[in-house]
Amino acid sequence: MTIFNLGSINADHFYRLSHLLSPGETLAASAYDRGLGGKGANQSVAAARAGADVRHIGAIGADGRWMREELRLDGVDCTHVAEVETASGHAIINVDAAGENTIVIFAGANRAIPVTALEAALSDAAPGDYILMQNETCLQVEAVELARHKGVFVAYSAAPFEAKAVSAVLDKLDLLLLNAVEAAQLCEALDTRLEALPVKAVCVTHGAKGAVWHDLIDGTKHDQPAFKVEPVDTTAAGDTFAGYLVAGLADGLKPAQAMRLAAAASAVKVTRAGTAAAIPKRGEVDAFLTAQG
Ligand code: RIB
Ligand code: NA
Repeated sequence: MTIFNLGSINADHFYRLSHLLSPGETLAASAYDRGLGGKGANQSVAAARAGADVRHIGAIGADGRWMREELRLDGVDCTHVAEVETASGHAIINVDAAGENTIVIFAGANRAIPVTALEAALSDAAPGDYILMQNETCLQVEAVELARHKGVFVAYSAAPFEAKAVSAVLDKLDLLLLNAVEAAQLCEALDTRLEALPVKAVCVTHGAKGAVWHDLIDGTKHDQPAFKVEPVDTTAAGDTFAGYLVAGLADGLKPAQAMRLAAAASAVKVTRAGTAAAIPKRGEVDAFLTAQG
């Protein structure tokens, strides 16, 4: 089975800072780096490193060919990553001494993904396949409709959060992934409790506290405590979790087992600086889990 990922591709520019900026402040970075990122690309890399068969749907400009090449080197099928006449997306990532971050994104080509790329990518999609998406691209509504028509499992990692975008497709999702802040924002926007959201399942990540899977069909919950690690950089921890979670589910794991794998992968990521390049491979995650006993 295949995981289709409609996802952003960004050039990430990292600045290591003593502290995050205040308004009007100028600050010298102690280190700079550039690498492949974007919530979409990070999730594709995570799912591929987990062992899944991943097909990415997205767009880059001519300046972003190196990013498509990096995705390919990770075994991600990039046949449907279109090259468009817009500059590639990019992100300015500030990371402080505690590993916390702020991120500015510029969407660029990520908002110019041709619908033909989506249609072509999903032409042979079938029940048993998965589609994943986030909020840094266009075409989410079209992707949900098309995937449902094909009988594909639909997972939406709703970051960066936009209540309108999520509400538009909520009742058509098999799985919604949110962090705790986003879950509260969605409930407030819809004036409802999490348990009453019109979606089959919600997985809420609580940062250093772990994650909770809410099955809203049968009302059951699974808790997955976070693994304790010394944080170096939390950037893309959520993406690592999402990619590993969906890869685990696609591989037949039950939600509780898939969450444990995802929590371990995200814990290992947090001990490393960077985004896509810092996402652990499956062997590293398995070794981490073995060491936890
Ligand atoms: O979640 C981390 C990602 O958010 C970064 O890679 C950056 O590109 C932004 O999309
Ligand atoms: Na993230």
